[in-house]
Amino acid sequence: MKVVVLPGDGVGPEVAREAARALEALAPDLELEERLLGAAAIRATGQPLPAETLAACVAADAVLKAPIGDPEFDAADVRPEQGLLALRAALDTFANLRPARGGEIDLLIVRELVGGLYFGASGVREDGTVFDTCEYHPREVERVARRAFELARARRGMLTSIDKANVLETSRMWRRVVNEVAADYPDVEVEHMLVDNAAMQLVIAPERFDTIVTENMFGDILSDLAAAVTGGLGLAPSASLGDGGPGIFEPVHGAAPDIAGRGIANPTAMLRSTALLLRYGLGREDAAAALERAVERALATAPTRDLGGSATTAAFGDAVLGAL
Ligand code: NAD
Ligand code: IPM
Ligand code: MN
Repeated sequence: MKVVVLPGDGVGPEVAREAARALEALAPDLELEERLLGAAAIRATGQPLPAETLAACVAADAVLKAPIGDPEFDAADVRPEQGLLALRAALDTFANLRPARGGEIDLLIVRELVGGLYFGASGVREDGTVFDTCEYHPREVERVARRAFELARARRGMLTSIDKANVLETSRMWRRVVNEVAADYPDVEVEHMLVDNAAMQLVIAPERFDTIVTENMFGDILSDLAAAVTGGLGLAPSASLGDGGPGIFEPVHGAAPDIAGRGIANPTAMLRSTALLLRYGLGREDAAAALERAVERALATAPTRDLGGSATTAAFGDAVLGAL
């Protein structure tokens, strides 16, 4: 089986190294193939998603992706983030699972990943007005809703659909489609919540949530919030799944340019994403659970600076390997 590793930018290569070490220990039969994505790819080829990287990802069993992005390209025409969006679209990974756990909190955000504002028409009108548009086809809502109901059914049976139906046309359609899909899942309790209230509820009562389903942009914002209330961005993994093709497994956090190059980034989110790759991408539950247990041990014995400890990225990785 082949896993394409995209080390990305900023702290990406630092956390990707620990993930590769863990994979080599847990699944020595896997073939790991490194490819360029993001700013590193722009520097080497002029493209954020080189054709060679895309071809390797399409042919892989799963993609393990570290964060991309670099302030150097923030105002450029060709930007690292375009490569990530193009990769998600090409693999049609429409369901982005972002679990957040800690204390009483155990929630799962299912973020629609290949539609909405990120992929709608955008541009500049003659009078100088700049626009991005939020577009969804009911089919795009139905497939992610169905995935979320399936996941909710396997959890505590509660699904919160988050939208802005008091204002947006796309949200009213989203709500209608979720209600239609709900008829096929009578065992799942469904509720609808407006996104502004949902942000507040995630801060004051995050333990009330089980499974959440929401559109692309709302999911982006709420998943950083959910990470923050469960210990921070350094801990939050994700799995982006389509229908059968290779999934993309990546931390919720970005390239963290403010701490890049110092060897102090917390590799937990990347290691937990690696566990999700083993579980959902390769069907290796035993190895996934072993890695998650080892990460728990390392969090207790070798916390990194973002958690109030002093372990380096590599020392945390050593603690994980030692606990496997
Ligand atoms: P960020 O997530 O990179 O950083 C936010 C804050 O969290 C920073 O203070 C950072 O130091 C801290 N942080 C993040 N990950 C950490 C870790 N593993 N250990 C310790 N601290 C950590 O968000 P940003 O600064 O807004 O974005 C920086 C760049 O990353 C941008 O170019 C953005 O586009 C990109 N980005 C990429 C992804 C991705 O590849 N999926 C996700 C988010 C942002
Ligand atoms: C994420 C990131 C990306 C997103 C950016 C880098 C395009 O913030 O994965 O959460 O907005 O989807
Ligand atoms: Mn984000």
